[in-house]
Amino acid sequence: MKKNVLIVYAHPEPTSLTRQLVEVAVQTLQEQGHRVMSSDLYGMGWKAVFDERDFPCRANLDRLALITESGHAYSTGQQTADVVAEQQKLHDADALILQFPLWWFSMPAILKGWVERVFAFGLAYGYKGEGNRYRYGEGGFAGKRAILAVTVGGPEKDYSPRGIDGPLEQLLFHVTHGMLFFSGMDVLPTHATYGADRATAADVDAAKIAWRLRVEQLFEEAPIPFRSQNGGDYPDRHILASDIAVGQSGLMAHIGEKRGARRDKSLI
Ligand SMILES: Cc1cc2nc3c(=O)[nH]c(=O)nc-3n(C[C@H](O)[C@H](O)[C@H](O)COP(=O)(O)O)c2cc1C
Repeated sequence: MKKNVLIVYAHPEPTSLTRQLVEVAVQTLQEQGHRVMSSDLYGMGWKAVFDERDFPCRANLDRLALITESGHAYSTGQQTADVVAEQQKLHDADALILQFPLWWFSMPAILKGWVERVFAFGLAYGYKGEGNRYRYGEGGFAGKRAILAVTVGGPEKDYSPRGIDGPLEQLLFHVTHGMLFFSGMDVLPTHATYGADRATAADVDAAKIAWRLRVEQLFEEAPIPFRSQNGGDYPDRHILASDIAVGQSGLMAHIGEKRGARRDKSLI
């Protein structure tokens, strides 16, 4: 079935591996009959910082309370045009692909700024004006899929389970879990292309094939089974139940075997 896919990418150099892999995604999706929307953040001159210029019609001129202003601008239709345009693309999208180089173990600042500005209060958080009632698996972006496609300078072994950098999926947990799943999306395992700075022509060809195979499965692959807030694993909506992930703590405790296995109707 034909779907809408939004690719948001952050790289200033058209010949970069990141940008080459964006082209692979666009081509693959179009060949599958999907509609591709894209946001070339550097090309658009995207404003990366979240500040008072995001709120031309302030709720409170005495103090810049960003969450309050975000909710006010969103609910009263007074957001800036660039943010509204990105939210419209997201609204139309069945899937979101974020493509970027790993910079200091995270996404480039311009992409973080896209999330900060586009994920408004009332939409991506504070959904329906209900505080944290709907988060982690529910919220304004529920029903959409998402995947990160990341080029990484270091070799894969640096990111292996005991590698010096730590596992990439844990380093990017703040994005997959903290931004995308938080706002309701189903997030697929991250696609990484390691050793990106030393890639030979053959490596680039192999990277393109590997990414193409992932893109072809965008609507088929099982998402990371993050535990949903309201699925029963967090009885008070904050802390895991004592009989869940016994003996585990930290980030990985929030990944279950099967999402929603202990659904508690009283919390829905
Ligand atoms: C500011 C900056 C920070 C970087 N941080 C990391 C890092 O934390 N880990 C890593 O393996 N590589 C790091 N690199 C290397 C990039 O990941 C690498 O250059 C990029 O993925 C190459 O792909 P590209 O052709 O798409 O730019 C960094 C590069 C820059 C410019």
